[in-house]
Amino acid sequence: MPALFPHWTNTLARATLIAVLCTLVGVPVALMAWVRTPNATRQYEPVAQPVAFDHRIHVTGQRIDCRYCHYSAERSSYAGIPPTSVCVPCHSTAWMSSDVLAPVRQSVSSGRPLRWNRVDALPGFVYFNHAIHVNKGVGCESCHGRVDRMAQVYQAAPLTMSWCVNCHRNPAPHLRPLSAITTMGYVSQRELGPQLAQKYHVRSLTTCTTCHR
Ligand code: HEC
Ligand code: HEC
Ligand code: HEC
Ligand code: HEC
Ligand code: HEC
Repeated sequence: MPALFPHWTNTLARATLIAVLCTLVGVPVALMAWVRTPNATRQYEPVAQPVAFDHRIHVTGQRIDCRYCHYSAERSSYAGIPPTSVCVPCHSTAWMSSDVLAPVRQSVSSGRPLRWNRVDALPGFVYFNHAIHVNKGVGCESCHGRVDRMAQVYQAAPLTMSWCVNCHRNPAPHLRPLSAITTMGYVSQRELGPQLAQKYHVRSLTTCTTCHR
């Protein structure tokens, strides 16, 4: 009896099987790799704002501490965006007439807050808290990068779960003295970190309920 299928169909069947396996494995792997790229995490993406507020002028030029404007970072879960009343003492009459500051002027006179666009945002099912990090020696720079060099703030860290957990496993090499929390360009974490971890009683928190509650 002649063969039901010619010989070459064996090769075809094998090739098809391999192709199916590659797709089954390859597509999820590619997707998993993609969600971790800056493209998917919005890392480094510039964010347009209603007023061209420049951190370089204010932080580097005027030497204003981060906490002058983001004053709740040490005390609450939110760092907060300052209300326009914080801008007024410096941007009084003369400077207020600049066109660039027109939205600030309107906000002050109408009492309606400016609508700044979010740069860093976690999904709603993740719990985050600024005060605990800031009071245990994790500096703004460790998560937000060199804000003092940003004309427009962008998301400097991936903000993925693995990024959070990597530090939580072993936070010591990321710690700095509380006096340097807002310092930009701090470099002695590795030398001083382990001592500070003891001094500030820093724990390694990796259980799921730390961040998902
Ligand atoms: C004079 C006030 C002022 C000072 C000082 C200041 N900021 Fe800001 N910051 C703002 C304003 C206004 C915004 C909202 C507009 C924007 O995103 O640029 C902002 C936005 C941000 C954002 C983005 C927030 C988001 O939406 O996720 C980060 C991060 C940030 N600031 C960090 C810092 C750090 C770190 C310092 C100190 C090195 C600092 N800021 C100093 C006023 C200030
Ligand atoms: C401690 C003082 C101080 C505070 C507080 C402050 N600024 Fe400024 N800002 C300055 C100085 C100084 C300049 C530089 C002015 C110049 O060079 O013409 C400036 C420049 C600016 C400019 C550029 C102005 C232009 O004409 O190009 C903008 C926009 C601005 N600030 C927005 C804000 C906003 C919004 C806030 C509140 C969140 C704020 N500033 C808070 C001191 C301050
Ligand atoms: C351990 C990392 C970490 C540290 C340290 C940190 N931040 Fe943040 N910051 C974040 C994350 C994550 C978000 C987004 C929070 C969210 O979406 O709930 C954020 C949000 C912000 C925002 C937007 C407003 C808000 O409260 O959500 C500002 C402004 C800000 N941070 C400023 C600061 C300043 C200033 C410091 C230092 C005093 C600081 N951050 C320290 C991770 C950090
Ligand atoms: C650079 C290091 C670092 C990064 C990055 C970091 N953390 Fe933390 N986190 C810490 C340290 C240190 C503590 C304090 C541990 C302690 O209480 O001893 C902490 C504490 C916390 C706590 C408080 C837990 C409690 O019950 O008191 C939460 C919640 C938290 N982190 C969430 C996050 C999330 C979510 C992210 C990512 C978006 C993140 N952290 C990124 C270092 C980090
Ligand atoms: C230090 C903080 C932290 C801890 C601890 C943590 N997570 Fe997450 N988790 C996050 C953040 C931030 C996100 C959102 C960003 C992302 O999706 O990567 C997230 C996202 C998730 C998601 C959504 C899936 C996805 O990729 O979008 C799941 C499911 C999850 N976590 C489960 C867990 C489980 C299970 C544990 C315990 C083994 C855990 N997490 C521990 C911070 C944490």
